[in-house]
Amino acid sequence: MKTQVISASRQEEAGTTLGANLIRSGELVAFPTETVYGLGANGLDGEAVNRIFEAKGRPNDNPLILHIAKKSELKKLWSHVPDRAYPLIETFWPGPLTLIFHKADAVPYEVTAGLETVAVRMPSDKTAQSLIRKAGVPIAAPSANRSGKPSPTTAEHVLEDMDGRIPLILDGGECKYGVESTVLSLVGEPTILRPGAVTKEMLEAVIGPVRLAGSILRPLMDREVAASPGMKYKHYAPDAQVIVIDGTPEQTAKCALSMYYDYMEQGKTVEILSTKQTHMRYRGASATMIGDREQPETMCQNLFRSLRDIGSHCDVILAEGIPTDEEGLAYMNRLLRSAGFERVDAEAYVRKNQIN
Ligand code: TXA
Ligand code: MG
Repeated sequence: MKTQVISASRQEEAGTTLGANLIRSGELVAFPTETVYGLGANGLDGEAVNRIFEAKGRPNDNPLILHIAKKSELKKLWSHVPDRAYPLIETFWPGPLTLIFHKADAVPYEVTAGLETVAVRMPSDKTAQSLIRKAGVPIAAPSANRSGKPSPTTAEHVLEDMDGRIPLILDGGECKYGVESTVLSLVGEPTILRPGAVTKEMLEAVIGPVRLAGSILRPLMDREVAASPGMKYKHYAPDAQVIVIDGTPEQTAKCALSMYYDYMEQGKTVEILSTKQTHMRYRGASATMIGDREQPETMCQNLFRSLRDIGSHCDVILAEGIPTDEEGLAYMNRLLRSAGFERVDAEAYVRKNQIN
């Protein structure tokens, strides 16, 4: 199959019209959203949805998010709309918040991977909205990467993973947030299953206390059931080994530099993911500044792109850990998964190796 890429800025009308026709005829279309690129299919057509799992190589017990363009469509997808959903929808839609509740009969089990609940979100990206509106159906879409790889934040990334597997990619340039939406379950106590740009603090300002699912910053324990099936799989893994270094900026930089030269001596190619606060300390070493520790959203924007770009030509990536407040939680959730939870305590390392 030949994969066509159409620029949404130059040919938005033609691109979304072709995309909507493909979606209606059961085909797959990759499209930009404000978070990451999605790989879409008609969300009411079980067979079309199955093609997503094939193209991604996605385990079939991992459910998908339905994307809508009008708030009123939610009523057709949920068995009823719980009261506390309304203020959240008014505040955060359209935008990077996915809500989970009991599904309506119209939603096929292919979308929910057999669950009685369904995840829905309304993206703010204009191309995404236009595609969904023209298709006239909710669009089921996971991130448009091959399963296990970092999520795509540009059309080039999608092409890397999906060339020859899907007929069309709509190119909307680089995604605004760079990490996937916050996933909030409204079944029982409101619980964040995946942190994102809509933070715990922002949600609590609207509906009061919100819980965090247990495995946001750690691997699942033996026999622990994943609140969100996506949490149990290897995720966001670039071609290089990623190691997270935790500590103050000062200790982290000392530790990272020492590890950097150790790996170099072993003949490995290494890159440090630095921050604005530490970048100058890595002079002489190979480091990419990923963002500002004080503004973790800047780090989120660059994470997946950096993992892909650097991962393609390095053996080891040494990445600084940051505090998990606000968007730092979304950052660390993705970074730790990309590292397979391999982390080093900078302070202990510096002490043990007597680095000053
Ligand atoms: O920003 C985003 O959410 C992007 C863009 C394309 O919209 N989509 C995305 O989809 O990240 P995906 O499939 O990569 O991640 C969806 C996550 C998975 O972890 C999945 O397990 C969880 O949401 N999920 C979906 N439906 C669920 C349900 N009914 N119950 C629990 N978790 C669910
Ligand atoms: Mg994904």
